[in-house]
Amino acid sequence: MTTKEKKTDNTQEYSLNVNVSPEILMQKAREAKARAYAPYSHFPVGAALLMKDGKIYSGVNIENASFGATNCAERSAMFTAISDGYQKGDFKAIAIAGDTESFLPPCNICRQVLVEFCSPKMPVYLTKEDESIKKLLLEDLSPYAFVTLDM
Ligand code: THU
Repeated sequence: MTTKEKKTDNTQEYSLNVNVSPEILMQKAREAKARAYAPYSHFPVGAALLMKDGKIYSGVNIENASFGATNCAERSAMFTAISDGYQKGDFKAIAIAGDTESFLPPCNICRQVLVEFCSPKMPVYLTKEDESIKKLLLEDLSPYAFVTLDM
């Protein structure tokens, strides 16, 4: 079965334009942030994950009374895409938005999840409250990453 055949259609966004700009992708992350479930930290985060075919998956942090059960925005987006049938090599970029004064990077658990599925050269777009965007590569965030399988 090919990747395409396994895909279902529960994305919130669909774009035929694979050349989605960082600004548009970040806007999707900001829109997602409004749907965060963060009643404990009051720290909403949104992520938007661009697939190579142009689909955009968004994700939010989803907290829990048992704090350790919390899922970050980046992993919510990643796990939804994987659940829909996407695989290693299908990911083009990710944008992450919070309400922070300085650029909000993914936590180290999310970095490890990104490393599992995404190229070290994948752009990771960060933002802060002035809405400026910083482009990093995944390898900038996770040098010497722990992997046991080849990309
Ligand atoms: N969080 C994210 O969703 N992504 C990050 O990159 C950093 C942290 C969430 C987890 C928790 O719900 C809240 O932010 C405070 O840590």
